[in-house]
Amino acid sequence: MPDPSAGTVAESGPSVPQPRFLRACLGLPVDRTPIWIMRQAGRYLPEYRAVRRRHDFLTCCRTPELACEITLQPVRRLGVDAAILFSDILVPLPGMGVEVSFDPGPRIEGAVRSPGDVARLRVADPEEATGYLLDAIRLLRKALPPDVPLIGFAGAPFTLASYLVEGSGSKSFSQVKRLLFGDPPVAHRLLATCAETVVKHAVAQVRAGAQALMLFDTWAGLLAPADYAAFALPYARQVFDAVRCAADEVHQQVPKIYYAGDGAGYLEQCRGIAADVVGIDWRIDLDVARRRLGPTIALQGNLDPAVLLAPPPVIRDRTRRVLEAAHRAEGERAGSGPASGHVFNLGHGILPATPAEHARVLVDAVHELSME
Ligand code: CP3
Repeated sequence: MPDPSAGTVAESGPSVPQPRFLRACLGLPVDRTPIWIMRQAGRYLPEYRAVRRRHDFLTCCRTPELACEITLQPVRRLGVDAAILFSDILVPLPGMGVEVSFDPGPRIEGAVRSPGDVARLRVADPEEATGYLLDAIRLLRKALPPDVPLIGFAGAPFTLASYLVEGSGSKSFSQVKRLLFGDPPVAHRLLATCAETVVKHAVAQVRAGAQALMLFDTWAGLLAPADYAAFALPYARQVFDAVRCAADEVHQQVPKIYYAGDGAGYLEQCRGIAADVVGIDWRIDLDVARRRLGPTIALQGNLDPAVLLAPPPVIRDRTRRVLEAAHRAEGERAGSGPASGHVFNLGHGILPATPAEHARVLVDAVHELSME
């Protein structure tokens, strides 16, 4: 668990965050366990589907007023403790010289396979390539209630590189592995270009007003631990180091959240990634994750998204179990009230088939049960 005495020291500084989401990310005491939901703005919401009937997905991302409205939808309906910018991890690709479309999964035109393809990639300039996203952040900071912080995000360099090489989602990711194993120098050049792009993209979001920054390493779980250490971790860390410097410049604490899909194999390594919070999927219990991650990094997670397809009493029961694991994760300090250093979330994105009322049941259950 985050050291409570460290909390006291931070508590006296001028920039102590008050919203419970930011406090939990930093290991500070909270009145209730905060919750937000990965992919909370999306297809399970009737109001999102209504906007999408009129505009395609990329138009929604590229129109600040639409992105702002869609970001606010789950905040209004669910009462979550944080908003996540409506966008996608692949929006920086056109700025790198690669076109992408969605149907609804991503399709990349001209997969990056040869050394020449890698050499032709550019580092995307965030103002030029994704200025609309920075405008959406500025609009949202005015529109959001002050106790609901805005999370900016990006794909981690390895996951971005995987999409560039595969050209779409994939089961085995054999093409990107062929490059990693067969031509490591070219793979590292590709990862370095992705990392430079993600650094600029993430730093620009912090400067525009994002109050936390999450890196999605969705496909990292496909790697053996030694390959994760070589090809994923150092590049994600490079982004977090840059985000910390950008946050220092604006005298803000901007929590850095890392999520590796199927990442239970790398928890010890994640200690070295410079994250304040690590997202945990449902394949491992929070108390076990805590032992492997060490005491100072907050945990985010980890309800199985499919639980939200079950009836409300099951959702409440399963929620209670996650909260209990978060208490066990505190070890000897465990007491009543919310466990410290825990942000409730699903272990991966909410499923499109989820009834929107069930998402509300979850948010209410977390708030109520964490006060007991
Ligand atoms: O509410 C939020 O979480 C904010 C918006 C958000 C989207 N994508 C919107 C979206 C975020 C944070 C993402 C991240 C993202 N995108 C990831 C990492 C998270 C994860 O799930 O591991 C990945 C791998 C992508 C790539 C991507 N974009 C995929 C695989 C798809 C296919 C469809 C899907 O929903 O999984 C998309 C499209 C996409 N991104 C949609 C949304 C709402 C659906 C598009 C539609 O409306 O048709």
